Amino acid sequence: MFQIAIDGPSGAGKSTIAKAIAAKLGITYVDTGALYRTVGYDVREKGADPKDGPAVTALLPEIRVDLDYVDGTQVVLLNGENLGDRIRTPEISMYASAVSAIPEVRAFLLDTQRDIAKKRSVIMDGRDIGTVILPDADVKIFLTASDECRATRRYEELKAKGIETSVEEVLADMRERDHNDSTRAVAPAIAAPDAIHFDNSWMKPDECTAAVLSKIILPKLGLTL
Ligand code: DC
Repeated sequence: MFQIAIDGPSGAGKSTIAKAIAAKLGITYVDTGALYRTVGYDVREKGADPKDGPAVTALLPEIRVDLDYVDGTQVVLLNGENLGDRIRTPEISMYASAVSAIPEVRAFLLDTQRDIAKKRSVIMDGRDIGTVILPDADVKIFLTASDECRATRRYEELKAKGIETSVEEVLADMRERDHNDSTRAVAPAIAAPDAIHFDNSWMKPDECTAAVLSKIILPKLGLTL
């Protein structure tokens, strides 16, 4: 069994690349952002302020967040319900970023993430995978791209889902979220000292997947495909 950690800011292409690599290696892809999004969704539904630590913490005992796999695809369940794309809106992105700064929320989601990596080989993406969740991961990658490139990608993704916005709005939201995520006191979104940095600005997903696999992952794991 092995563990691959992919961290980096929003829109760096982590999930696209990690999903493709999981398929090529026949291992499980874990999207940890979906867990924070699910907590953010619940907080919004309950009308609580996502920045209010005690208020959010008080909600945690009433919720269950489970990670499951249906036909190899990850689903996150909130009290047994699959929320699907409802956790993918720009508003929920902001809620997720705010609740992710609360130490109790991070502690609440810790075991769910570590447990899955104990049972199978994983490629896990997030913000603190190489630093906190899987500090002994076999491969750690910090994936980045320029702000403009990341905002353009996010914009295209949202447009495809029928969510109306503009590149400028996405860029402003993204910078705010990245600032929150990288400056928070607990588990800030920073590269692990032993992570390999890879900038994929304006690279096509296939190109990036092939490069990350052949230049970083396969040599590190001593594997060939
Ligand atoms: O990867 P994403 O955009 O779906 O993540 C949503 C938010 O969740 C992100 O702004 C920060 C937070 N997050 C985190 O703090 N730690 C992780 N491992 C994954 C996500």
